[in-house]
Amino acid sequence: MGVAIRGTGSILPEKILTNQDLEQMVDTTDEWIRQRTGMKERHIAEKDTVASLAAAACKRALESAGKSAEDTELIIVATCTTEMLLPCAACRVQKLIGAANAIAFDINAACGGFLFALNTAHHYIASGACRNALVVGAEVLSEIIDWTDRSTCVLFGDGAGAVYVEETISGERSGIIGMSQGSSGMNGQMLYCRGRNVKGATEPEINSSDLLVHMSGSDVYRFAVRQVPICITKALDSAGIGTEDVDVYVLHQANRRIIESIAKTLKTDIDKFPMNIERTGNTSSASIPILLDELHRAGRIQKGQRVVLSGFGAGMTYGACVVVW
Ligand code: ACO
Repeated sequence: MGVAIRGTGSILPEKILTNQDLEQMVDTTDEWIRQRTGMKERHIAEKDTVASLAAAACKRALESAGKSAEDTELIIVATCTTEMLLPCAACRVQKLIGAANAIAFDINAACGGFLFALNTAHHYIASGACRNALVVGAEVLSEIIDWTDRSTCVLFGDGAGAVYVEETISGERSGIIGMSQGSSGMNGQMLYCRGRNVKGATEPEINSSDLLVHMSGSDVYRFAVRQVPICITKALDSAGIGTEDVDVYVLHQANRRIIESIAKTLKTDIDKFPMNIERTGNTSSASIPILLDELHRAGRIQKGQRVVLSGFGAGMTYGACVVVW
């Protein structure tokens, strides 16, 4: 059974935090952030939660696909910043959108999470276990960022994106045609967060560094520029096509320089790598579906085009997916 993306949706919280705002908070400059990352601003959730953002993205994806919440059979939310341990974010989304008939659960593979969730939904549908799914990436990273650490706090933003996927009809050419994913737990120390505050819990230990993100930026950088091209190449091989056959690459928006390096390694024009990092920062598992939704709505992705989605994250995890739109 083939699996195709039928609709997309996304949301960014209203509040914008600019590089100039960050200059007032830590010892940094707009110029450093733009040159080293490509970021100018990011969105920060004030009242929104992972579940409320995910639900809003799902509603937009359902609308874009012309489908109803009641008929949705599976909801997978990729997140590493859910505001409650139990119930999982996907079950709260189920309630918020009224998808009473869905199976719902979360996946945590950090910034690689959306691809892991998409791959899981693909297998559910391909095996006949269900016919459709909402696959979501949603994060409120601002809750686990150390706002006194200039090497991490300038990088991240909040938001959510979702796709509605469905089994293809016989003879249809659209759909997922290749996938690759992997994990490298041996490199787990590159990016970690031991625990977290739970919103609304009594007296959060806001000073405990165990509850905040720690990252060796240069190690993560080197990991990404080495591993992502290998992963994309494997996914393309599994699809039986080459880089020259790809129309658009929708990559995890972690750093403009990482994306430029990946494009160079793949010997592909950077124009095929659209970015929104300037406005969003790194929204972790949400970055790929947010960018995909923006491109889809802008008409930048057209029916029949070949699209590669790829990302990496804490774990370390990485994945790539080849889709005929
Ligand atoms: N403003 C000014 N100076 C800074 C800042 C800042 N915000 N942050 C770091 N610096 C300084 C450092 O202290 C260092 O100074 P020093 O030379 O005096 O020691 C200097 O800038 C260079 O630091 P590097 O870390 O070597 O800078 P680099 O060019 O590697 O860029 C960055 C840092 C942007 C973090 C880069 O390494 C990167 O993007 N790495 C990947 C990070 C990433 O993608 N993380 C997300 C993974 S996905 C997930 O799962 C969440």
